Amino acid sequence: MSEEKKSFQETNRENRDRWDLLKFDTQLMRAGEDPYLETSHSLRIPLYATKSYTYSSLSEFLQSHYFYSRTENPTLYALDNKLATLHGGERAISVGSGMGAIHLACSSVLQKRVERIRPNKIKKLLPQSNPNDIPSIVIHNNQYTGVYRLITKIYPQMGIDFKIVNLCDLAEVKKVVDENTKLILLESPTNPKIDIVDIKACADIIHEVGGKCIVDNTFASPALQKPLKFGADLVVESLTKYINGHGDCLGGVIIGTKTEIQNIRYFWLETQGQVLSPFNAWLILRGIRTLGLRMSRHSSNAMEIAEFLEQHPKVIKVVYPGLKSHPNHEIAKKQMLDFGGMIGFELESGEVSNEFIELLKLIKVGVSLGDTTSLLEYTTLMTGIDLASWEKKSMGISNSHFRFSVGLEDPKDLINDLEQALNQI
Ligand SMILES: Cc1ncc(COP(=O)(O)O)c(C=O)c1O
Repeated sequence: MSEEKKSFQETNRENRDRWDLLKFDTQLMRAGEDPYLETSHSLRIPLYATKSYTYSSLSEFLQSHYFYSRTENPTLYALDNKLATLHGGERAISVGSGMGAIHLACSSVLQKRVERIRPNKIKKLLPQSNPNDIPSIVIHNNQYTGVYRLITKIYPQMGIDFKIVNLCDLAEVKKVVDENTKLILLESPTNPKIDIVDIKACADIIHEVGGKCIVDNTFASPALQKPLKFGADLVVESLTKYINGHGDCLGGVIIGTKTEIQNIRYFWLETQGQVLSPFNAWLILRGIRTLGLRMSRHSSNAMEIAEFLEQHPKVIKVVYPGLKSHPNHEIAKKQMLDFGGMIGFELESGEVSNEFIELLKLIKVGVSLGDTTSLLEYTTLMTGIDLASWEKKSMGISNSHFRFSVGLEDPKDLINDLEQALNQI
């Protein structure tokens, strides 16, 4: 194969050892990008807006790493290789949304029978489990509601069982994990209540029964937390949030071993089709360059605001991993480099929530998180909109709970806005 015809993915693998030696902020700029600069002299990654690829001979077709853009695209490979490097994983696969990533990752882990789809792509088969097992997933008692719905309302229809526990209580986790538990699917920090789950402890518990641990790292991003280091088997993230950081597109990613990611790419993604568009991959590649800078400023802004909220008489509870009052502050210190931009807080009563929102002049209210711009969410009506009241109660979502995604504005302006609104309710 001539140098020009070598796929970007192949060249990327050769560069991987070099990228691994770089510091995180340099990886953000360079990992995944060298082959593009070498072959096209372009300063930036080209946007490959193509559905398929052409060949001048059958042998060229057979050797090519590009077949159809549902499974491979050079712009997406740049993003995949950057994200794999940032997390210290063997491979990554970026897909259409965070939810898409979570479903694909769970599908691969729970898969009972591995078929040899395109055997040249999947060299090693995953272990086969007993087809009569009823697999079961363990999740936390307050986890992103999209995930809660997937696990508790959709998977049971496919014969997959679930258990909901407080993953912060390791004795409880040990009690519910048995030989049918194939997976612990956890978030840390959690959405919406900003709990901190001990990743290593949960990974150790599930590994003892031969299951796997998937960590949704959306709230931390690889700038603050790298779950593979703590024993996670797969990491998933919503690229929609901090990784892209600019609020202009959706995306998701899964990071893990070569075998698992190839299985996801050529077995699950090829069939289920939650593809990331090359344009969105290009936007995310642009956004990710400042991830290190942004996460550091998100964290310092959030710390200042959490301290302000904690002393305000109208606020009865503040949950931020950087505060000493957070019940798992010590675990956050152990597994995170900084504490991120997400704060949970509660007002005196639910009745004043609407008034509080209407009084805000600068801070915008809406769903989602992780942007340059602050976003305040009224949890019970936004993330919690599809939940029955008993479900909200069991998750501890009260009608006075807010989730605040602290942006990159000057923290003084954010505090002034919160203060004037709180003082008037
Ligand atoms: C923790 C977490 N994981 C996953 C998702 C889903 O991501 P997406 O909106 O990109 O599908 C979200 C969305 O809010 C989230 O907060």
